[in-house]
Amino acid sequence: MLTLNINGKDQELDVPADMPLLWVLRDVAHLTGTKFGCGMAQCGACTVHVDGAPLRSCITPATVVAHGQKILTIEGLSTDGSHPVQQAWAELDVVQCGYCQSGQIMSAAALLAKIPKPTDSDIDQALSGNICRCGTYPRIRAAVKRAADIG
Ligand code: FES
Ligand code: FES
Repeated sequence: MLTLNINGKDQELDVPADMPLLWVLRDVAHLTGTKFGCGMAQCGACTVHVDGAPLRSCITPATVVAHGQKILTIEGLSTDGSHPVQQAWAELDVVQCGYCQSGQIMSAAALLAKIPKPTDSDIDQALSGNICRCGTYPRIRAAVKRAADIG
């Protein structure tokens, strides 16, 4: 049994010791907002926050974050879509197919928590590991700036 603090709540979960956090979140905790893309830390679809920092959950064994670290998924960002990043994403209609977007949003939220008014270069650097096959990058960059204004 592992105790994980997910979205502000401790959860005791019966999972194999080597199970990646992504699968614990999706298949055991039933939080399916976090997506599987590459499974090799190359696409960012699986990004969650651990103690406020973005982390690739596909390559992180759940045991690594079972020591009281605070895991935040897209479901925990806000209960009603009111987080500035979510508001900006909706306002600028960023999403195309949507598959990459929870990872993009989590990376953007982590960036803004660290740098409230990021430059283009800050945004490009922070989101460079988040791949969007639909090419929504210009809207993502604009939405990060809009979220900075809202927040
Ligand atoms: S699924 Fe984790 S980085 Fe691609
Ligand atoms: S919106 Fe389709 S992959 Fe990014």
